[in-house]
Amino acid sequence: MAPRIVILPGDGIGPEIMQAAITVLGGLGEFTLEEHAFGGASIDAHGTALTEETLAACRSADAVLLAAVGGPKWDTTDPAAPRPEQGLLGLRQGLGLFANLRPVRPLAALYDASPLRRERIEGTDLLVVRELTGGIYFGARGRRDGDAFDTCTYSVPEIERIAEVAFDAARRRSGAGAPARDGDARPRVTSIDKANVLETSRLWRETVVRVHAHHADVALDHLLVDNAAMQLVARPAAFDVLLTENLFGDILSDEAAMLTGSIGMLPSASLGAGGPGLFEPVHGSAPDIAGQGVANPLALLLSVALMLRHGLSREAEAAAVESAVNGALQTGLRTRDLGGQATTSEATRAVLSLIN
Ligand code: IPM
Ligand code: MG
Repeated sequence: MAPRIVILPGDGIGPEIMQAAITVLGGLGEFTLEEHAFGGASIDAHGTALTEETLAACRSADAVLLAAVGGPKWDTTDPAAPRPEQGLLGLRQGLGLFANLRPVRPLAALYDASPLRRERIEGTDLLVVRELTGGIYFGARGRRDGDAFDTCTYSVPEIERIAEVAFDAARRRSGAGAPARDGDARPRVTSIDKANVLETSRLWRETVVRVHAHHADVALDHLLVDNAAMQLVARPAAFDVLLTENLFGDILSDEAAMLTGSIGMLPSASLGAGGPGLFEPVHGSAPDIAGQGVANPLALLLSVALMLRHGLSREAEAAAVESAVNGALQTGLRTRDLGGQATTSEATRAVLSLIN
Protein backbone atom coordinates (compact mmCIF):
# COMPACT_ATOMS: atom_id res chain seq x y z
CA MET A 1 0.00 0.00 0.00
CA ALA A 2 1.14 3.52 -0.78
CA PRO A 3 2.44 5.29 2.34
CA ARG A 4 -0.03 7.81 3.76
CA ILE A 5 1.50 11.23 4.27
CA VAL A 6 -0.28 14.16 5.89
CA ILE A 7 0.92 17.37 4.25
CA LEU A 8 0.64 20.66 6.09
CA PRO A 9 1.52 23.57 3.76
CA GLY A 10 0.90 26.17 6.49
CA ASP A 11 1.51 29.86 5.82
CA GLY A 12 3.62 32.31 3.84
CA ILE A 13 5.89 30.50 1.39
CA GLY A 14 4.61 27.18 2.80
CA PRO A 15 2.10 26.37 0.04
CA GLU A 16 4.62 27.28 -2.73
CA ILE A 17 7.39 25.08 -1.42
CA MET A 18 4.93 22.28 -0.56
CA GLN A 19 4.01 22.24 -4.25
CA ALA A 20 7.69 21.48 -4.95
CA ALA A 21 7.61 18.59 -2.49
CA ILE A 22 4.41 17.19 -4.03
CA THR A 23 6.00 17.35 -7.48
CA VAL A 24 9.15 15.56 -6.35
CA LEU A 25 7.19 12.88 -4.45
CA GLY A 26 5.14 12.38 -7.62
CA GLY A 27 8.39 11.67 -9.46
CA LEU A 28 9.39 9.04 -6.91
CA GLY A 29 6.32 6.83 -6.86
CA GLU A 30 2.94 6.27 -5.24
CA PHE A 31 2.12 8.21 -2.10
CA THR A 32 -1.29 8.97 -0.65
CA LEU A 33 -1.20 12.65 0.30
CA GLU A 34 -3.75 14.16 2.63
CA GLU A 35 -3.66 17.93 3.03
CA HIS A 36 -4.80 19.86 6.10
CA ALA A 37 -4.85 23.55 7.01
CA PHE A 38 -2.33 24.29 9.73
CA GLY A 39 -0.95 27.28 11.61
CA GLY A 40 -2.31 30.67 10.56
CA ALA A 41 -4.33 29.11 7.74
CA SER A 42 -6.07 26.90 10.31
CA ILE A 43 -6.67 29.87 12.63
CA ASP A 44 -8.42 31.63 9.75
CA ALA A 45 -10.48 28.57 8.85
CA HIS A 46 -11.17 27.04 12.28
CA GLY A 47 -10.07 29.53 14.95
CA THR A 48 -7.22 27.31 16.15
CA ALA A 49 -3.77 26.50 14.73
CA LEU A 50 -4.22 22.73 15.10
CA THR A 51 -7.65 21.12 15.09
CA GLU A 52 -8.42 17.79 16.76
CA GLU A 53 -9.20 16.42 13.33
CA THR A 54 -5.79 17.39 11.92
CA LEU A 55 -3.99 15.96 14.95
CA ALA A 56 -5.93 12.70 14.60
CA ALA A 57 -5.08 12.52 10.89
CA CYS A 58 -1.38 13.04 11.72
CA ARG A 59 -1.49 10.36 14.41
CA SER A 60 -2.77 7.76 11.98
CA ALA A 61 -0.46 8.73 9.08
CA ASP A 62 2.84 7.09 8.18
CA ALA A 63 4.58 10.48 8.24
CA VAL A 64 3.81 14.19 8.43
CA LEU A 65 5.40 16.74 6.12
CA LEU A 66 5.18 20.38 7.16
CA ALA A 67 6.31 23.45 5.20
CA ALA A 68 6.17 26.52 7.49
CA VAL A 69 3.86 28.44 9.79
CA GLY A 70 3.40 32.02 10.97
CA GLY A 71 3.19 35.54 9.62
CA PRO A 72 2.53 39.16 10.61
CA LYS A 73 -1.21 38.66 10.21
CA TRP A 74 -1.29 36.48 13.31
CA ASP A 75 1.48 38.22 15.29
CA THR A 76 0.19 39.34 18.63
CA THR A 77 1.41 39.72 22.19
CA ASP A 78 -2.07 38.98 23.53
CA PRO A 79 -1.65 35.77 25.57
CA ALA A 80 -5.29 34.84 24.90
CA ALA A 81 -5.11 35.05 21.09
CA PRO A 82 -4.32 31.93 19.02
CA ARG A 83 -0.84 31.83 17.46
CA PRO A 84 0.30 29.75 14.45
CA GLU A 85 3.28 28.41 16.42
CA GLN A 86 0.88 26.77 18.87
CA GLY A 87 0.00 24.38 16.06
CA LEU A 88 3.60 23.31 15.73
CA LEU A 89 4.11 22.94 19.47
CA GLY A 90 0.79 21.07 19.77
CA LEU A 91 1.81 18.70 17.01
CA ARG A 92 5.23 18.02 18.55
CA GLN A 93 3.62 17.36 21.91
CA GLY A 94 0.59 15.51 20.52
CA LEU A 95 2.78 13.11 18.53
CA GLY A 96 5.37 12.82 21.33
CA LEU A 97 8.16 14.03 19.04
CA PHE A 98 10.89 14.49 21.62
CA ALA A 99 13.89 14.15 19.31
CA ASN A 100 14.65 16.78 16.69
CA LEU A 101 17.49 15.97 14.31
CA ARG A 102 18.99 18.82 12.31
CA PRO A 103 21.89 17.73 10.11
CA VAL A 104 24.19 20.54 8.94
CA ARG A 105 26.42 19.63 6.04
CA PRO A 106 27.44 22.59 3.88
CA LEU A 107 27.60 21.38 0.29
CA ALA A 108 30.86 22.00 -1.47
CA ALA A 109 28.94 23.82 -4.22
CA LEU A 110 27.78 26.37 -1.64
CA TYR A 111 31.00 26.99 0.27
CA ASP A 112 31.18 30.47 -1.18
CA ALA A 113 27.57 31.26 -0.22
CA SER A 114 28.45 30.95 3.47
CA PRO A 115 29.30 34.13 5.37
CA LEU A 116 32.22 32.19 6.83
CA ARG A 117 35.43 31.70 4.92
CA ARG A 118 35.73 28.46 3.00
CA GLU A 119 38.62 27.20 5.15
CA ARG A 120 36.44 27.55 8.27
CA ILE A 121 33.50 25.51 6.99
CA GLU A 122 35.31 23.00 4.81
CA GLY A 123 34.67 19.51 6.18
CA THR A 124 31.77 20.58 8.42
CA ASP A 125 29.34 17.70 8.89
CA LEU A 126 27.45 17.94 12.14
CA LEU A 127 24.12 16.90 13.59
CA VAL A 128 22.16 18.94 16.10
CA VAL A 129 20.08 16.68 18.35
CA ARG A 130 17.59 18.98 20.03
CA GLU A 131 15.21 17.92 22.81
CA LEU A 132 11.82 19.02 21.51
CA THR A 133 9.00 18.44 23.99
CA GLY A 134 10.40 19.72 27.29
CA GLY A 135 12.13 22.65 28.89
CA ILE A 136 10.98 26.24 28.84
CA TYR A 137 8.83 25.66 25.74
CA PHE A 138 6.39 23.55 27.71
CA GLY A 139 6.80 24.71 31.33
CA ALA A 140 4.23 26.74 33.24
CA ARG A 141 4.01 30.31 32.01
CA GLY A 142 1.86 33.28 32.62
CA ARG A 143 1.47 36.80 33.90
CA ARG A 144 0.98 37.89 37.49
CA ASP A 145 0.64 41.45 38.77
CA GLY A 146 2.22 42.88 35.65
CA ASP A 147 5.13 40.39 35.74
CA ALA A 148 5.61 37.51 33.31
CA PHE A 149 7.22 34.12 33.87
CA ASP A 150 8.27 31.02 31.92
CA THR A 151 9.48 27.89 33.68
CA CYS A 152 12.14 25.44 32.54
CA THR A 153 11.73 21.91 33.86
CA TYR A 154 13.46 18.67 32.83
CA SER A 155 12.99 15.20 34.27
CA VAL A 156 15.63 12.46 34.29
CA PRO A 157 13.68 10.23 31.82
CA GLU A 158 13.29 13.15 29.40
CA ILE A 159 17.05 13.72 29.41
CA GLU A 160 17.88 10.02 29.25
CA ARG A 161 15.84 9.33 26.15
CA ILE A 162 17.24 12.25 24.14
CA ALA A 163 20.79 11.36 25.25
CA GLU A 164 20.21 7.81 23.99
CA VAL A 165 19.14 9.23 20.63
CA ALA A 166 22.31 11.35 20.42
CA PHE A 167 24.69 8.49 21.26
CA ASP A 168 22.94 6.15 18.83
CA ALA A 169 23.00 8.80 16.10
CA ALA A 170 26.71 9.41 16.68
CA ARG A 171 27.42 5.70 16.30
CA ARG A 172 25.31 5.42 13.14
CA ARG A 173 26.99 8.45 11.58
CA SER A 174 30.49 7.33 12.46
CA GLY A 175 32.76 7.80 9.56
CA ALA A 176 30.67 10.72 8.37
CA GLY A 177 31.39 13.15 11.18
CA ALA A 178 34.28 15.24 12.33
CA PRO A 179 37.88 14.10 11.99
CA ALA A 180 39.44 12.47 15.02
CA ARG A 181 40.32 14.98 17.69
CA ASP A 182 42.97 14.58 20.39
CA GLY A 183 43.88 11.27 18.79
CA ASP A 184 40.39 9.99 19.75
CA ALA A 185 38.88 8.38 16.66
CA ARG A 186 35.52 7.60 18.29
CA PRO A 187 32.38 9.44 17.14
CA ARG A 188 31.70 12.30 19.51
CA VAL A 189 28.70 13.79 21.30
CA THR A 190 29.13 17.33 22.58
CA SER A 191 26.47 18.04 25.18
CA ILE A 192 25.60 21.71 25.49
CA ASP A 193 24.17 23.25 28.63
CA LYS A 194 24.44 26.18 31.02
CA ALA A 195 25.50 24.12 34.02
CA ASN A 196 27.36 27.06 35.57
CA VAL A 197 24.00 28.80 36.16
CA LEU A 198 20.96 26.58 35.64
CA GLU A 199 19.79 23.71 37.84
CA THR A 200 18.12 21.99 34.85
CA SER A 201 21.52 22.08 33.12
CA ARG A 202 23.25 20.44 36.09
CA LEU A 203 20.69 17.62 36.02
CA TRP A 204 21.16 17.48 32.24
CA ARG A 205 24.94 17.10 32.56
CA GLU A 206 24.76 14.50 35.35
CA THR A 207 22.23 12.44 33.41
CA VAL A 208 24.09 12.61 30.10
CA VAL A 209 27.27 11.43 31.86
CA ARG A 210 25.35 8.49 33.34
CA VAL A 211 23.79 7.49 30.01
CA HIS A 212 27.22 7.73 28.42
CA ALA A 213 28.47 4.92 30.65
CA HIS A 214 26.60 2.52 28.30
CA HIS A 215 28.11 4.11 25.20
CA ALA A 216 31.85 3.82 25.70
CA ASP A 217 32.40 3.58 21.93
CA VAL A 218 31.28 7.21 21.63
CA ALA A 219 33.30 10.10 23.10
CA LEU A 220 31.48 12.71 25.19
CA ASP A 221 32.38 16.27 26.03
CA HIS A 222 30.49 19.25 27.42
CA LEU A 223 30.32 22.88 26.42
CA LEU A 224 28.52 25.81 27.98
CA VAL A 225 26.01 27.21 25.54
CA ASP A 226 27.61 30.66 25.17
CA ASN A 227 30.96 29.06 24.41
CA ALA A 228 29.25 26.61 22.03
CA ALA A 229 27.73 29.53 20.10
CA MET A 230 31.23 30.91 19.64
CA GLN A 231 32.88 27.57 18.77
CA LEU A 232 30.21 26.86 16.20
CA VAL A 233 31.46 29.70 14.04
CA ALA A 234 35.11 29.47 15.12
CA ARG A 235 35.62 25.76 14.36
CA PRO A 236 32.42 24.20 13.01
CA ALA A 237 34.27 21.30 11.38
CA ALA A 238 35.40 20.06 14.80
CA PHE A 239 31.85 19.09 15.83
CA ASP A 240 30.16 15.76 15.28
CA VAL A 241 26.87 15.43 17.23
CA LEU A 242 25.60 18.34 19.34
CA LEU A 243 23.14 17.31 22.05
CA THR A 244 21.12 20.02 23.69
CA GLU A 245 17.85 21.08 25.30
CA ASN A 246 14.93 22.69 23.56
CA LEU A 247 15.65 26.44 23.68
CA PHE A 248 19.43 26.17 23.23
CA GLY A 249 18.84 23.82 20.30
CA ASP A 250 16.45 26.29 18.71
CA ILE A 251 19.02 29.06 18.82
CA LEU A 252 22.11 27.02 17.94
CA SER A 253 20.43 25.33 14.99
CA ASP A 254 19.62 28.68 13.36
CA GLU A 255 23.23 29.67 13.89
CA ALA A 256 24.46 26.38 12.45
CA ALA A 257 22.13 26.80 9.48
CA MET A 258 24.06 29.83 8.32
CA LEU A 259 27.16 27.65 7.87
CA THR A 260 25.41 26.28 4.82
CA GLY A 261 25.03 29.75 3.33
CA SER A 262 21.30 30.02 3.81
CA ILE A 263 18.76 28.92 6.34
CA GLY A 264 16.83 27.92 3.23
CA MET A 265 18.97 24.78 3.04
CA LEU A 266 18.40 23.11 6.41
CA PRO A 267 15.97 20.17 6.87
CA SER A 268 14.85 18.56 10.10
CA ALA A 269 13.27 15.37 11.38
CA SER A 270 11.27 15.17 14.61
CA LEU A 271 10.87 11.67 15.93
CA GLY A 272 9.09 10.08 18.85
CA ALA A 273 8.80 6.61 20.24
CA GLY A 274 7.44 4.65 17.31
CA GLY A 275 4.63 6.81 15.88
CA PRO A 276 4.81 8.93 12.72
CA GLY A 277 7.62 11.47 12.48
CA LEU A 278 7.31 15.10 11.48
CA PHE A 279 9.58 16.42 8.74
CA GLU A 280 10.01 20.13 8.17
CA PRO A 281 12.57 22.72 7.12
CA VAL A 282 14.22 24.74 9.89
CA HIS A 283 13.34 28.04 8.21
CA GLY A 284 10.12 29.97 8.75
CA SER A 285 7.32 31.12 6.46
CA ALA A 286 9.22 34.12 4.99
CA PRO A 287 6.12 36.34 4.61
CA ASP A 288 8.25 39.02 2.92
CA ILE A 289 8.68 36.87 -0.21
CA ALA A 290 5.46 34.83 -0.03
CA GLY A 291 3.41 34.52 -3.21
CA GLN A 292 6.25 35.55 -5.53
CA GLY A 293 7.36 32.07 -6.53
CA VAL A 294 10.97 32.74 -5.54
CA ALA A 295 11.27 30.79 -2.27
CA ASN A 296 14.01 28.19 -1.97
CA PRO A 297 12.30 24.76 -1.77
CA LEU A 298 15.53 22.84 -1.10
CA ALA A 299 15.24 22.59 2.71
CA LEU A 300 11.76 21.11 2.30
CA LEU A 301 13.03 18.73 -0.40
CA LEU A 302 15.84 17.69 1.93
CA SER A 303 13.16 17.20 4.61
CA VAL A 304 11.37 14.90 2.15
CA ALA A 305 14.65 12.95 2.00
CA LEU A 306 14.72 12.70 5.81
CA MET A 307 11.08 11.55 5.71
CA LEU A 308 11.95 8.84 3.20
CA ARG A 309 14.91 7.74 5.34
CA HIS A 310 13.65 8.02 8.94
CA GLY A 311 9.88 7.92 8.47
CA LEU A 312 9.37 5.45 5.63
CA SER A 313 12.63 3.42 5.62
CA ARG A 314 13.24 4.16 1.93
CA GLU A 315 16.95 4.88 2.07
CA ALA A 316 17.64 4.57 -1.66
CA GLU A 317 15.06 7.22 -2.53
CA ALA A 318 16.26 9.45 0.32
CA ALA A 319 19.79 9.32 -1.04
CA ALA A 320 18.49 9.97 -4.58
CA VAL A 321 16.74 13.18 -3.47
CA GLU A 322 19.81 14.37 -1.56
CA SER A 323 22.10 13.72 -4.46
CA ALA A 324 19.68 15.44 -6.86
CA VAL A 325 19.64 18.56 -4.66
CA ASN A 326 23.41 18.47 -4.53
CA GLY A 327 23.63 17.94 -8.27
CA ALA A 328 21.28 20.84 -9.02
CA LEU A 329 23.46 23.16 -6.94
CA GLN A 330 26.57 21.87 -8.67
CA THR A 331 25.12 22.82 -12.02
CA GLY A 332 24.84 26.37 -10.66
CA LEU A 333 21.20 26.46 -9.57
CA ARG A 334 20.78 29.33 -7.08
CA THR A 335 17.55 30.70 -5.68
CA ARG A 336 17.51 34.30 -4.50
CA ASP A 337 18.53 33.54 -0.90
CA LEU A 338 21.69 31.96 -2.34
CA GLY A 339 22.46 35.00 -4.45
CA GLY A 340 20.86 33.76 -7.69
CA GLN A 341 17.73 34.24 -9.78
CA ALA A 342 16.19 30.76 -9.95
CA THR A 343 12.50 30.53 -9.09
CA THR A 344 10.87 27.90 -6.91
CA SER A 345 9.59 25.97 -9.91
CA GLU A 346 12.94 26.13 -11.72
CA ALA A 347 14.61 24.72 -8.60
CA THR A 348 11.97 22.00 -8.41
CA ARG A 349 12.38 21.03 -12.06
CA ALA A 350 16.16 20.96 -11.70
CA VAL A 351 15.94 18.54 -8.77
CA LEU A 352 13.26 16.41 -10.41
CA SER A 353 15.24 16.07 -13.64
CA LEU A 354 18.17 14.65 -11.66
CA ILE A 355 16.01 12.08 -9.91
CA ASN A 356 14.48 10.57 -13.03
C1 IPM B 1 11.90 25.90 15.05
C2 IPM B 1 11.03 27.14 15.16
C3 IPM B 1 9.96 26.89 16.22
C4 IPM B 1 10.67 26.62 17.54
C5 IPM B 1 8.93 28.02 16.38
C6 IPM B 1 8.26 28.36 15.07
C7 IPM B 1 7.92 27.72 17.45
O1 IPM B 1 11.79 28.24 15.44
O2 IPM B 1 11.37 24.83 14.71
O3 IPM B 1 13.10 26.00 15.29
O4 IPM B 1 11.02 27.56 18.25
O5 IPM B 1 10.88 25.46 17.86
MG1 MG C 1 13.88 27.88 15.45
